[in-house]
Amino acid sequence: MTGTDFTQGWVNGWIIAIVLINLLGCLWLLWWTRKRPEDHIAEGESMGHSFDGIEELNNPLPHWWLNLFYFTIAFAFIYLTLYPGWGDAKGMLGWTSHNQWEMEVEKANNRFDRVFKDYAAIPVEELAKDPQAVKIGQRLFGNNCALCHGSDARGNLGYPNLVDNDWLYGGSADQIVASITHGRNAMMPPGGGLPMTEQDVLDMTAYVLTLSGRKGSGNADAAKAKFAVCSACHGADGTGNPALGGPNLTDNIWLYGGTEKAIIETLTLGRQGKMPAFKDTLGEEKIHVLAAYVYSLSM
Ligand code: HEC
Ligand code: HEC
Repeated sequence: MTGTDFTQGWVNGWIIAIVLINLLGCLWLLWWTRKRPEDHIAEGESMGHSFDGIEELNNPLPHWWLNLFYFTIAFAFIYLTLYPGWGDAKGMLGWTSHNQWEMEVEKANNRFDRVFKDYAAIPVEELAKDPQAVKIGQRLFGNNCALCHGSDARGNLGYPNLVDNDWLYGGSADQIVASITHGRNAMMPPGGGLPMTEQDVLDMTAYVLTLSGRKGSGNADAAKAKFAVCSACHGADGTGNPALGGPNLTDNIWLYGGTEKAIIETLTLGRQGKMPAFKDTLGEEKIHVLAAYVYSLSM
């Protein structure tokens, strides 16, 4: 409902009439109670009325007090003409609560634009040492990233921990900026792209477990040769490949869990982690500050 819907036709005239009657009524009251020359009773003398032991004396309001009243009434007329007040009249200043809000938003944007512009000139590694910038980055993180990575950035099953200095795609400033700007689409095909029987999966799982010094129920030696297929994305020694986001399988830090059961599931179903791109929603300057925050977490 807009203002004009509400103050249609007679309602509009009604409001104007009520406002006018009130203001003019006040004026009339002041005039009516003023000191009249035909009153011959001296100031401080009795007016001749008394009730219940209380007597009315002739004590007119002081002039300054009366003038204040006249002033407030004049003020009301001026105010109602400048601002919307006479029914749905817009007021000479054209003020609305909406355009005041817009002006304040613009003022805030201008201020933050300047802050982000200043930060954009500072390298991410330097900015990560600026407590004010890190705080702004943390707030952006809370609004845009915490949903998946957790408010403490420690991640969750399938969502990488960003504070542990273990990186899928690399932890340099440029690599972090690239992750946020363009997003990341991981592609781990079922069986690593090889057709695998259940026994093959069990054997390969056993081999993967040996990479972090453990043992599985399958035959690791039987799978060893097949790991050549995996090495394209995980490296020949299993320490990962940041170009493709292939995780390090030797460090006992797991994105999807490191139990035998979890690894069997990874090999059977494959994994396709998706990190959305923020290029369009946040823009370069905010991503720069966010990257500084993420960088600061593992400094
Ligand atoms: C919809 C969930 C989601 C949101 C929202 C999200 N991320 Fe991610 N992010 C992921 C996933 C999933 C990955 C891992 C992709 C993969 O599996 O390869 C990831 C990866 C990353 C990486 C790379 C980590 C590494 O180890 O190399 C960074 C850095 C990152 N995210 C930062 C952010 C930041 C900063 C934001 C907020 C602007 C954000 N993410 C928002 C899901 C999300
Ligand atoms: C085409 C590239 C590619 C190949 C080939 C590949 N992987 Fe992967 N693998 C990935 C990627 C990328 C991820 C991360 C998935 C994600 O982030 O969603 C992954 C994840 C995994 C994980 C889960 C790691 C964790 O931290 O939870 C395991 C285990 C794994 N791969 C084992 C293998 C094995 C064993 C093979 C060979 C049979 C193999 N992968 C072949 C790309 C590959």
